[in-house]
Amino acid sequence: MTYLEMPLGEIATKVPGATAVLFSHKINFCCNGDMTLKAIMDKKGLNADDIIPTIEALASRGGAVQDWSQVDNKGIIEHILTRYHQVHREQLTELIRLADRVETVHGSNELCPTSLADHLINVRRELEQHMQKEEMMLFPMLLEGHSSIVTGPISVMMSDHEHHIEHIEKIYALTNDLSLHPEACNTWRALYLGLQEFISDINMHIHIENNILFARAINKEVIEPTGAVGIMSEDDIKEAEPEGVCCGACS
Ligand SMILES: [Fe+2]
Ligand SMILES: [Fe+2]
Repeated sequence: MTYLEMPLGEIATKVPGATAVLFSHKINFCCNGDMTLKAIMDKKGLNADDIIPTIEALASRGGAVQDWSQVDNKGIIEHILTRYHQVHREQLTELIRLADRVETVHGSNELCPTSLADHLINVRRELEQHMQKEEMMLFPMLLEGHSSIVTGPISVMMSDHEHHIEHIEKIYALTNDLSLHPEACNTWRALYLGLQEFISDINMHIHIENNILFARAINKEVIEPTGAVGIMSEDDIKEAEPEGVCCGACS
């Protein structure tokens, strides 16, 4: 299979450094994990020559990429909580402070990202609600092995993720694609640098949830209370489905 035919989630998982290349071309690999690289490039009008050689060079260079298939759900969830949930809370607090400061001081500059602070406050509120749903409901269900009843909550979380990406699009629109004014002050520079980091992190965060943790549960893998993972047989699946509850596959 060529990289053009490969799903984005697979490229992001298998090629060290590929996520940065996809990110630099604003290719949403987290919520479009099942879409092939060709499909998204056609949709966005991107040129394969600008992307494929770089992906191929990264793949041939090798290097370290986290093999999540070797990590149990407990390990993945701990990583999500410490590397992303906690970090997003810190990032947004500081970004809101910086955006407010830039708007107060440079509001008359036509390149000033007006209303960015208000938008980031909305982002923080929605992201906080989303992360609390994962922390208090979905992640405990995954850790306790309720594999037959997580499909609904997972689809709600994936829908939330699409909203997060729409929020990111609005950040790009408000900041003129994070283009800095030539004489931008250090606070303005720190704001755009911080936004770049936040956007990169939230892409990886959603990618790990959608394309690894949630995909694992949707594919009917057994999640033991210890976090260990194994594949369910068809008979096991029938036995695990509570009576009278449709898995949704027949509709
Ligand atoms: Fe999360
Ligand atoms: Fe999430």
